[in-house]
Amino acid sequence: MDAKVRRKALRLLSNGVYVLTSRCENRYGAATVTWVSQASFKPPLIMAAVRRESNVFKCLSESRAAVLHIVGEQQQEIARRFFSPTEAGGGTINGEPFAEGRTAAPVLASLPAHVECRVERIVQTDGDHEVVILRVVEAECPEQVRPLTIAESPWEYGG
Ligand SMILES: Cc1cc2nc3c(=O)[nH]c(=O)nc-3n(C[C@H](O)[C@H](O)[C@H](O)COP(=O)(O)O)c2cc1C
Repeated sequence: MDAKVRRKALRLLSNGVYVLTSRCENRYGAATVTWVSQASFKPPLIMAAVRRESNVFKCLSESRAAVLHIVGEQQQEIARRFFSPTEAGGGTINGEPFAEGRTAAPVLASLPAHVECRVERIVQTDGDHEVVILRVVEAECPEQVRPLTIAESPWEYGG
């Protein structure tokens, strides 16, 4: 297999741009992620591939709760903030204000829609990301939202 062709083909997978947050006692994790999909209607499950070494993975694997936020198409600057390791303080994560959700995981105020989830299962892949199966327990979608997609962003993640 030609590695360049493989990367090119895998980068054609259609994905959204999201911010995944979690909290474990007084530690926080928040990351922009794109490897996300719905995985079941009944019960409502989603799956996310999350880097094992990330703060958000460490938090959600301990607290068993996380929030997946949809990023609006005009919100690239907010997504960019969560490419960097998590820094929380003064009611903000990476400079973005948040409130506590039903599961105590952080809900970011500036993003237009989110689903709050319990961790149902973590599938160990033996790769560099683990597949996290999340059950949706709460959702907020108060306005018409046009979501940012990886294809319409300047970024690439995959290969
Ligand atoms: C465009 C883009 C997409 C990304 N998608 C993912 C992803 O799907 N899963 C993941 O674990 N990390 C992804 N990352 C990396 C995280 O955003 C990054 O590692 C983040 O700093 C993790 O923060 P934390 O360690 O504080 O949790 C992506 C990065 C970029 C630039």
